[in-house]
Amino acid sequence: MKICGHRLLIAEDEPILRITIADALRKEGWEVDVAEDGVKALAMFEQNLHELVLSDLLMPHMDGLELLRRVKALRPDTTVVIITAHGTIETAVEAMQLGATDFITKPFSMMQLLLRLNNVCSFKLLEQQNVRLQEQLERRFSFGKIIGKSKRMLEVFELIKMVADSDASVLVQGESGTGKELVASAIHFNSPRRTHPYIRVSCASLPETLLESELFGFEKGAFTGASERRIGRFEAASGGTLFLDEIGELPLSFQVKLLRVLQERQIERLGSHRPVNVDVRIVSASLRPLDEEISDGTFREDLFFRINTVTIHLPPLRERREDIPILAQAFLEEFRKERSKPIEGFSDEVLRAFDAYHWPGNVRELRNVVERAALFCKRARIERDDLPANVRSAAETPHRPAPPTVTTLQEAVEQATAEAIRNALAATEGRRGDAAQLLGISRKTLWEKSKQYGLAEE
Ligand SMILES: Nc1ncnc2c1ncn2[C@@H]1O[C@H](COP(=O)(O)OP(=O)(O)OP(=O)(O)O)[C@@H](O)[C@H]1O
Ligand SMILES: [Mg+2]
Repeated sequence: MKICGHRLLIAEDEPILRITIADALRKEGWEVDVAEDGVKALAMFEQNLHELVLSDLLMPHMDGLELLRRVKALRPDTTVVIITAHGTIETAVEAMQLGATDFITKPFSMMQLLLRLNNVCSFKLLEQQNVRLQEQLERRFSFGKIIGKSKRMLEVFELIKMVADSDASVLVQGESGTGKELVASAIHFNSPRRTHPYIRVSCASLPETLLESELFGFEKGAFTGASERRIGRFEAASGGTLFLDEIGELPLSFQVKLLRVLQERQIERLGSHRPVNVDVRIVSASLRPLDEEISDGTFREDLFFRINTVTIHLPPLRERREDIPILAQAFLEEFRKERSKPIEGFSDEVLRAFDAYHWPGNVRELRNVVERAALFCKRARIERDDLPANVRSAAETPHRPAPPTVTTLQEAVEQATAEAIRNALAATEGRRGDAAQLLGISRKTLWEKSKQYGLAEE
């Protein structure tokens, strides 16, 4: 039985035990180093890549606990197994708390030791596989924090990757809760500007007078109450990205000012006429399609062209339903970690309701529904009655009727004929004469038609 077949360090002050263990493990294919105390063991560990350390607790110079502490500090993923004598169980518990994987009590047979190490190694292997799988999964179905596997979201990921490297102005459009803010931050954190600030301004929440001082800053004395100079968000975002959220809400008069700043790449603080150069990348977001606002006369076309070198459209959730289960699972996972409540997933009925519901609040609404359901859930799975009524009833009244299938008239006639023959045969328990009579055709015609539609054998 070859366990891990890698390098192992034994720290044990009893020579006979040390030699016996070393011999037994070498026979199993381990590369073994031995040390008679903690200090020597640590020196060896610092110079070699041991995957496992098997250490006695009581040793001269440095004891097993201290060795464990140092080993974990140097390479935290090293597996440490502690050997203890009877009566030192408390210390063994302490060792586990310090990160030891297991402990074995003296006296033990070599067979017991081998079994123990074998378990420890298989466990570690499984753990590593799990981490790898999880990473693969996350990489496949997400882009940073944005989760999605639908074709449309994969296209969004591609687009983010493409624009991130450039300084192009990006406009993110999508209904409420589709993830516009997530996309804006993903663009910044995947761009060469990632080490500089990422600053968000909500254009909707600020009245026009405040917008100017917030975005461009002001000099001391610029207005009553301006007791000292303050830099605005444009300057604060210098070298980084400025996210103008809900840009469609900007008053027209302010749009002119913003346009000028974007064209000239300079701002003037309120109360100053000295222009300051600003180097920021602009990402904007809007709920309503801005071209509609342009036709309505509430958004300037020239500003639109400035901020919209590239548009990223975030599709509503109901147009990418294949993302719903993985999003729901991810939100549940988050909840589970935060609250340590052991809920393993969703019942099929819940997933069906999720699939039927039209999600006007998109991903944000899904997140809220999952959190609320998880909070109320008293079983191991989220069931239908944990859902709010509107989502629950979606499964009962599917709002997506199957699209009508279009066939040729000939096909329709054939299908109806075959159906009528099947019904007649069923009603007469397969008596062809009676069936033909019911259908108002001759036995011969029935036979021919049955053959034609593959019903002769039925
Ligand atoms: N694809 C996604 N993967 C994971 N979480 C998402 C995704 N899309 C949205 N979310 C989550 O949904 C919530 C809403 O997202 P976000 O704030 O980015 O939406 P929004 O489009 O900016 O909404 P609003 O227009 O209302 O401001 C956030 O909690 C966000 O983390
Ligand atoms: Mg938002």
